[in-house]
Amino acid sequence: MKFFVDTAEIDDIKELNATGLLDGVTTNPSLIAKSGRDFKEVVKEICGIVNGPVSAEVASTEYNVMLEEADVLSRIAENVVIKLPLTWDGLKACKTLTGKGLKTNVTLCFSPNQALLAAKVGATYISPFIGRLDDINTDGMQLVEDIRQIYDNYAFATEILAASLRTVNQVSDAALAGADVATIPPAIIKKLADHPLTDKGLAAFVADWKKTGQSIL
Ligand code: G3P
Repeated sequence: MKFFVDTAEIDDIKELNATGLLDGVTTNPSLIAKSGRDFKEVVKEICGIVNGPVSAEVASTEYNVMLEEADVLSRIAENVVIKLPLTWDGLKACKTLTGKGLKTNVTLCFSPNQALLAAKVGATYISPFIGRLDDINTDGMQLVEDIRQIYDNYAFATEILAASLRTVNQVSDAALAGADVATIPPAIIKKLADHPLTDKGLAAFVADWKKTGQSIL
């Protein structure tokens, strides 16, 4: 499963990119607003740091304007992926942009039927929002499992990008459900390697190694 980081914070992107574990970045209008940065500038900066795909979302809800915005965003860098909302206009724009050879990420997916439509218009990625479904007492991860089944049934190439992940367990659950990509907030990625038994075991190894009086170097 590929790891994207879900943020527009440059310091976090640089830190995670240096681990070699980062496959891409996703942003959305809320994350851009939180960063306080100019949208096009920050997307350009992120694309200069990360080699993988960087999702930049259109602001318009109208097909014609979405295409104009996608044209501007796609010129920022080769690794820009145009993020579009899962609406009829967004799906139509996805079909048009796919035809032009651009990569797309269809976002705000909350049902298997929506994911089926995104695949049929050739989306590069579909973004089911797990956490937001869990927020309303629905099983968000079940949606990933359902999409996996549908896409496998018809050999759709659209990649499942598990989004709105808020816990470390959701990351492993997304991998178990067969998500191709997980987009994860920086704080959650940084917790993925943590385990108290690892810390406890390492402390014991360090102490016992000291007792040997040896040095590897
Ligand atoms: O980027 C989309 C998604 O990951 C947002 O997550 O936590 O705002 O539901 P959240």
